[in-house]
Amino acid sequence: MKLPLRWTKNTLLFGGIAAWGLLLVSCVSVNRAVFAPPSVPGAKFAGSQACAECHDDKTTGFHDATHAKMMAPGDNAKEIGCESCHGPGSLHVKSGGGAGTIVNPGTSPETCYQCHLDKRAEFDLPSAHPVKNGQMSCSDCHDSHQGNSILTGGTNLAGINDTCLKCHNAQAGPYAFEHEAVREGCVTCHSPHGSVNARMLKTTNANLCLQCHSQTQTAAGVIVIGGRDHAGSLNRGTCWTAGCHEGVHGSHVNNSLRF
Ligand code: HEC
Ligand code: HEC
Ligand code: HEC
Ligand code: HEC
Ligand code: HEC
Ligand code: HEC
Ligand code: HEC
Repeated sequence: MKLPLRWTKNTLLFGGIAAWGLLLVSCVSVNRAVFAPPSVPGAKFAGSQACAECHDDKTTGFHDATHAKMMAPGDNAKEIGCESCHGPGSLHVKSGGGAGTIVNPGTSPETCYQCHLDKRAEFDLPSAHPVKNGQMSCSDCHDSHQGNSILTGGTNLAGINDTCLKCHNAQAGPYAFEHEAVREGCVTCHSPHGSVNARMLKTTNANLCLQCHSQTQTAAGVIVIGGRDHAGSLNRGTCWTAGCHEGVHGSHVNNSLRF
């Protein structure tokens, strides 16, 4: 992630997981990244604790969330994770939730782009999830309010797959012949935000598959993949076109993943 160094009156510091690790190991000063949260005219940071009084449904699971590690700089550094996305909340707290006193990112990704600049570019790529036109939002896949922000909470890829399968049930199976690669995770082959390649694929050639299925040349003119000579096949297209392994997600008819 590329970050702009923008010092404004609302700048935050981030002591990330890696940075804390460094602190424990070395006890030397930590190189912390600087971010600009949204602003609310006239308001100051109140700290995440202040939100718990009225929004405990949001604060309960927040302690282990990535964004909970945001701090306001200065001597009385407070944990202001909530306000990193919602803007400083002092007026909101004082007025007991008065209208127009807090930012609600809602379904617009603009608040997120303020710190995640590179994501705007990813959703601009030719094959991308339709976030740009408002059909989808970051919240469809990320939970801002608890744990690791990948929706369904898990840090493992099975959790990611569940998120994808909410909408893409055609890929869910069960198939008579499963492709174990899918268990490894949809993001082994797809870039979840966007890609220059059609179908949001990470690569459009055999390399997508060869990262797991190694290719060996046993003799001149013989290229073995998965125990079979592929020398005559590799120039006919990609592994999943050319009338070969079209059932990349699994097949009902053939254990070589064919339709
Ligand atoms: C004294 C109670 C109280 C405190 C403290 C409080 N809120 Fe609220 N908040 C409310 C009420 C009341 C509403 C409006 C009713 C609703 O939508 O739930 C609200 C609404 C919101 C909304 C939705 C606003 C919208 O326009 O949709 C957000 C976001 C929010 N609060 C964030 C925070 C954050 C962040 C903090 C801590 C800095 C905080 N609140 C502290 C009472 C409070
Ligand atoms: C990573 C950014 C982010 C952080 C950090 C964050 N929120 Fe939110 N919050 C959102 C987004 C996006 C929405 C609107 C969509 C949704 O509900 O997920 C939202 C919605 C809300 C709402 C309105 C919910 C409703 O039902 O309309 C409240 C209240 C709220 N957040 C409070 C908090 C509190 C309290 C914290 C800290 C414990 C917090 N948020 C931390 C991004 C964030
Ligand atoms: C004030 C700056 C800031 C804002 C605003 C912000 N983030 Fe983040 N976000 C961070 C930082 C810092 C990290 C941790 C460093 C990293 O992963 O590069 C992070 C990490 C993440 C991660 C990955 C790490 C994880 O496991 O949770 C996701 C996903 C994420 N943010 C989503 C969002 C979404 C969605 C929004 C808008 C609703 C948002 N962020 C708004 C600063 C911000
Ligand atoms: C279609 C689902 C989906 C949508 C929509 C989505 N993300 Fe993600 N995002 C993911 C998945 C899955 C990962 C984990 C990727 C991995 O582990 O390889 C991820 C990872 C991240 C990360 C951490 C790793 C990285 O790439 O930097 C950040 C930050 C992030 N997303 C921010 C956002 C923001 C901001 C938005 C909205 C503008 C957004 N995401 C929308 C699925 C999504
Ligand atoms: C909230 C629903 C939703 C979730 C969750 C979701 N997607 Fe999508 N996905 C869509 C929509 C909508 C499209 C655009 C469909 C279109 O353009 O026809 C799409 C398109 C795609 C495409 C391109 C399809 C094509 O024909 O070009 C791929 C690949 C894809 N998603 C993979 C994923 C992966 C991987 C995940 C999990 C990280 C995921 N999706 C999560 C709704 C979702
Ligand atoms: C082994 C690599 C691989 C994995 C893992 C994978 N995909 Fe795909 N996916 C592909 C390829 C290759 C295509 C393009 C197929 C084509 O063009 O005929 C594709 C196409 C798609 C499409 C477009 C519609 C279609 O079927 O052609 C969607 C949606 C999709 N994948 C979703 C997912 C989801 C959701 C997961 C996780 C459950 C996933 N993929 C896991 C390789 C993979
Ligand atoms: C994440 C690793 C991974 C990736 C990437 C991957 N595969 Fe697989 N694939 C496996 C595993 C594991 C098996 C089951 C064990 C085996 O047969 O090697 C398998 C099995 C297969 C089989 C069945 C082999 C048999 O004889 O039973 C075919 C065909 C296949 N994969 C094709 C592909 C194609 C085409 C791609 C690229 C679109 C691909 N694989 C990408 C891991 C992967």
